[in-house]
Amino acid sequence: MRMVDIIINKRNGKELTEEEIQFFIEGYTNETIPDYQASSLLMAIYFKGMSEQETAALTKAMVESGDTIDLSPIKGHKVDKHSTGGVGDKTTFIVGPLVASVGVPVAKMSGRGLGHTGGTLDKLESIEGFKIEMTKEQFIKNVNENKLAVAGQTGNLAPADKKLYSLRDVTGTVDSIPLIAGSIMSKKLASGADSIVLDVKTGTGAFMKTLSESEALAKAMVTIGNNLGRNTVAVISDMNQPLGYEVGNANEVKEAVEVLQGKKVNDLRSLSLELASHMTVLAEVFETYEQAYHTLEENLENGKAFEAFRRFVQAQGGNINMIDDLFMLPSSKYHLEVKAEQDGYVTGIDAESIGVAAMYLGAGRSTKDDQINHGVGITLKKKIGDQVKNGETLVILHSDQESTSDSTQKVLDAYKIESTNKGENKLIYKVIK
Ligand code: URA
Repeated sequence: MRMVDIIINKRNGKELTEEEIQFFIEGYTNETIPDYQASSLLMAIYFKGMSEQETAALTKAMVESGDTIDLSPIKGHKVDKHSTGGVGDKTTFIVGPLVASVGVPVAKMSGRGLGHTGGTLDKLESIEGFKIEMTKEQFIKNVNENKLAVAGQTGNLAPADKKLYSLRDVTGTVDSIPLIAGSIMSKKLASGADSIVLDVKTGTGAFMKTLSESEALAKAMVTIGNNLGRNTVAVISDMNQPLGYEVGNANEVKEAVEVLQGKKVNDLRSLSLELASHMTVLAEVFETYEQAYHTLEENLENGKAFEAFRRFVQAQGGNINMIDDLFMLPSSKYHLEVKAEQDGYVTGIDAESIGVAAMYLGAGRSTKDDQINHGVGITLKKKIGDQVKNGETLVILHSDQESTSDSTQKVLDAYKIESTNKGENKLIYKVIK
């Protein structure tokens, strides 16, 4: 087989065979196929697309390019959740304990964030003593005992994806639906869960800005999962404003714990219940979504989900006093208000700009060696649909520096205030099965 023939086939719009795709992925991973040929094939895929079969074959080959996590020593039906990324997204801290509270195991591998705020691991490390590194045996023991553990990614998962993603980044081939879907799903499938729920964000703060793009991505990922033997459901949810009211690290943990303690933060609570309901139906604990939602909502009210979170934090070495008394979580020196400069109604909050403003405060990393400041972040005081008066507080910047002009400007740019109220945004647009 010759790589040049594979490139020509795709260029001419022919469907590639599983063997051709495997040849490409293996050759690119072991460096017998050079970057220039891989780039050329990626560009042909960008223009000609890939069929369902080709996309599944690509994903399978990327999974097989490295290690896969064997979760079989964990009892029960393992479910995982993946979000395509958004600002203020702390659903993992609510969904994990909720699902665990009905006995469904969640064995989660997470990453650190290179972006606006930290990743799941960074946020958890706001809790003093919390450890994300553990042996495989400890990880499995924790999941078996508490039904929930979150660990840093170990092993060499989908190395072909890592190499290809770097190449796509510099060859103008990132935004191809089959390539994105294959990339995300290869890492999820290598992590070993039996079923997967995807939270595909849509809107100004999302990777996919329009509903039709988000739907196409969601469908492609669900098809891959189902074709490769994992039950997969995707929820398309709004990212036209940050999720919840807190953006940062410690303050996101705080908001999640408040929801676990019964606070009604509408969008965050509803989305968490939605995702957890699909996960527990896939795990076959409930027959219907409605039954799942009802019981999970009860477990938020009666403290069972909160207890599951406490057990999880304790098992990973976290200082539980910080969870019981949220004022003990890291905080910042200054709390500075950004005020509205006109009367009206909030009709948009560019989530990405809020994320960047949080990063300027030190909540995220702009290079992978940057240190996260767990105590800084942003509290939104107004969300879409709220009325504001000139001079009223839009957000509070939690900062360790007195001067926050960059972040202030970013926040003011993010808020769209108009004279007529356009109402609240839809939260869940579609569920793809
Ligand atoms: N995230 C990924 O992991 N891969 C992509 O291709 C795009 C976003």
